[in-house]
Amino acid sequence: MAVSSPHDQPTLQEILDKYSQEEGALIPVLQEVQATYGYLSKEAMRAIGKALHLSPAQVYSVATFYAQFHTRPSGKHIIRVCRGTACHVRGSDQILAVLEKRLGLQAGGTTPDLQFTLETVACIGACGLAPTMVISEETYGHMTIDKVQRLLKDLGVQAEE
Ligand code: FES
Repeated sequence: MAVSSPHDQPTLQEILDKYSQEEGALIPVLQEVQATYGYLSKEAMRAIGKALHLSPAQVYSVATFYAQFHTRPSGKHIIRVCRGTACHVRGSDQILAVLEKRLGLQAGGTTPDLQFTLETVACIGACGLAPTMVISEETYGHMTIDKVQRLLKDLGVQAEE
């Protein structure tokens, strides 16, 4: 199976060759394949399972267990809203609602132009900053609706009419 990768990125086969002799390599392989291709396709998960002597179900269950992995193409900017208890009591519902409305999608969705993916996560370990959200690995705390609007503007999302 040939899966091409963009530009100078390693091919899937090169990634698999690098890890095939290592025990417990599944997570690092999934991370590297996702970093290269943006998500974990069914085809890639099948190839990973074959290389690591795991069933497709084992690979899939790990890939879907961890929030860091995507089994569908995800947006350039991944926005995660914390739904843990501390954030919930401090209004994470309103933060999520504004994001869903402004981006025109539900949590778990990706905009058709592949610019944004919106997700919810359990506690991210920054409860003192509740309510929190994460955009492409950067954590934002003490979120308010105004702050969300400003962040979206910075990301190029047009202001509401
Ligand atoms: S509950 Fe949101 S950071 Fe802990």
